[in-house]
Amino acid sequence: MAVTVATFQEMKRAGERISMLTAYDYTTARLVDAAGVDSILVGDSLGNVMLGLGDTIPVTMEDMIRHTAAVTRGVTNALVIADMPFMSYQVSVCEAVANAGRLIKEGRAHAVKLEGGVAMADRIAAITAAQIPVCAHIGLTPQGINAFGGFKVQGKTVEAARQFLADAQAIQEAGAFAVVLEAVPAELATLVSGRLEIPTIGIGAGAGCDGQVLVNQDMLGMFDGFMPKFVRRFAEAGALMREAYADFDRCVKDGTFPGPEHCYGMPEGVLEQIEG
Ligand code: KIV
Repeated sequence: MAVTVATFQEMKRAGERISMLTAYDYTTARLVDAAGVDSILVGDSLGNVMLGLGDTIPVTMEDMIRHTAAVTRGVTNALVIADMPFMSYQVSVCEAVANAGRLIKEGRAHAVKLEGGVAMADRIAAITAAQIPVCAHIGLTPQGINAFGGFKVQGKTVEAARQFLADAQAIQEAGAFAVVLEAVPAELATLVSGRLEIPTIGIGAGAGCDGQVLVNQDMLGMFDGFMPKFVRRFAEAGALMREAYADFDRCVKDGTFPGPEHCYGMPEGVLEQIEG
């Protein structure tokens, strides 16, 4: 059964946890979908893990549409949510609706995600009014890295926690169907999850959220560098891939690949005629 935004609401009501992973390409999307994961986020984290841009700031609408379209072609059941990249919704309500529409029309996403709470409530309401489901994202919002001055846990003071609660409430009132809570104390995320009727999807926000999301490359262990505290490696695929690449290199160089089983044969007699 295909997962829809209505399924998200039903799962919240039934107390069933929602699973979400990022994916950015057709092959990975097929694997994630076949594994039964409820939702795929085509995150603008593709700026980090697919394009090597260092952060999400330079990611464009064209990047997001291309990757979203590749993912949706590989998905049968999961709900596909496409991230709205930096400056595709901040400038005006009008641009926000037009760009959300492109992710649905050209990328064939089922929903979009944008970062921000109270300040983005008018965008969320307008996009939702255009019949496009919106997932919001509050807490540590990577597009705000320059404003935050780095990747820091959010919501740790009374003032920040109050703002976080106000953001969550505003998002729900504006019509969002779900909200990602990133890098906030587990107690705060649990409080918000209990107060909201829409599901909360946590990343570095503890087990009290209604669902969990991770970046694919992080959970597969494909990075050697910085790994946030909240990531669990469910596999060491990076090590496995490196071993396979090294094995290929060795086999090419020692002549053991390709073997006879990987070669096409010439029909009898043809070679003799050429050599004539
Ligand atoms: O872009 C992304 O992958 C995200 C997740 C970290 C939630 O926004």
